[in-house]
Amino acid sequence: MTTNTHWQALRERYVPKGVGNMLQAYAERAENAQIWDVEGNAYLDFAGGIGVLNVGHRHPKVVAAVQQQLDKLMHTCFHVMPYAPYVELAKRLSEAAPGPSLKQTLLVNTGAEAVENAIKIARAATGRSGVVAFSGAFHGRTLMGMALTGKMAPYKQGFGPFPAEVYRVPYPNPYHGCSEEDSLTALHTLFKMDIDPKRVAALIIEPVQGEGGFYAATPSFMQSLRQLCDQHGILLIVDEVQSGFARTGKLFAIEHAGIEPDLMTVAKSLAGGMPLAGVIGKASLMNVPEPGALGSTYGGNPLSCAAALAVLDVIEEEHLLERAEQVGELIESGFTTLAKDFAAISHIRRLGAMAAMELLDAEGRPDAALAKDLTQKAASKGLLLLSCGVYANTIRVLVPLTATDQQIQQGMGIIGESLAELFAC
Ligand SMILES: Cc1ncc(COP(=O)(O)O)c(C=O)c1O
Repeated sequence: MTTNTHWQALRERYVPKGVGNMLQAYAERAENAQIWDVEGNAYLDFAGGIGVLNVGHRHPKVVAAVQQQLDKLMHTCFHVMPYAPYVELAKRLSEAAPGPSLKQTLLVNTGAEAVENAIKIARAATGRSGVVAFSGAFHGRTLMGMALTGKMAPYKQGFGPFPAEVYRVPYPNPYHGCSEEDSLTALHTLFKMDIDPKRVAALIIEPVQGEGGFYAATPSFMQSLRQLCDQHGILLIVDEVQSGFARTGKLFAIEHAGIEPDLMTVAKSLAGGMPLAGVIGKASLMNVPEPGALGSTYGGNPLSCAAALAVLDVIEEEHLLERAEQVGELIESGFTTLAKDFAAISHIRRLGAMAAMELLDAEGRPDAALAKDLTQKAASKGLLLLSCGVYANTIRVLVPLTATDQQIQQGMGIIGESLAELFAC
């Protein structure tokens, strides 16, 4: 048996520190909502590989689909010789996307790559260059991804200059002092002072901010954005990388708002642990770039496509949209019970199972140190828990939707024990 210490020493020697790690324990195997490290220690997984494992680790259907595909074909490059699973998945995603317009789907490898391509398509389709993004947004670590991301440290520091023509307005977040009205006023001001809306190709928004803190834009705000975009011929890009695939109780979080986006970026839970991402959009826009302008060597790899087709089946067969609501209720009631004992807990919120709470210090200010201590303490007790947020004081839960009620309650128990120990010292 190797040890965590052994791998940590090698990791420090050979992997740059910029690739951050939350833990110094090394995962060896996993099943549904549990991971075991190389020393045999078990962890309950409330992180889900940062929103990748809505159907759990190694879902048997996903594993079987990948194994079957492995026996047939691993790679041709879709640009060289196309294959059925890519087309089949493009059909399923295009048909599942909200709204009446005919859709098409481009498959790529990562969320950031999907975002890059959505901007490329929007610019090509509109002949305009400006892009508007929101404060607190996270859209990836590529250059355009960073330009669109609305948080400096650690994502952007030292990496500029960034692509031009990116403008930012505040994301509506009444808890931290920005109302929907404030956000809309900022947009109007932007169009008056900084860029003519006729030069704006797209506005990109997460319907529920992920890294930014699990804040959900209300349906009325999304509807106002839709109207504003229509008024000025601006494309609305909805980034569903973290909120998609049943997490919020709908296949896509934007369905809660009842509007049709022009383009949608997807990744993470799409392929249940295999690397895959995509842009789903109105065919009239998706079809504008010429052959060869879109794609990549590995984009829509056959193994990942097979996994994604199985994930879509699992979401349907195991009723994960309904299950997300139950999981969300369990988390919310767990947090609410804990809040009775710990005054630091504030602003419990959720959309489906995209659930979070905030931690505050004795003066009522965001307490990032406590959030960090809690994730570390929880890990030492066998629970993987993530923090997030512009103030780094939000505790978010991305537990597989296939976890049992008992596992979720067990995780809540560990959060309670961890907080009790932290406040006792
Ligand atoms: C909303 C959102 N967009 C884009 C990304 C980037 O995805 P990736 O890390 O796969 O490049 C993320 C990753 O967390 C995300 O949450």
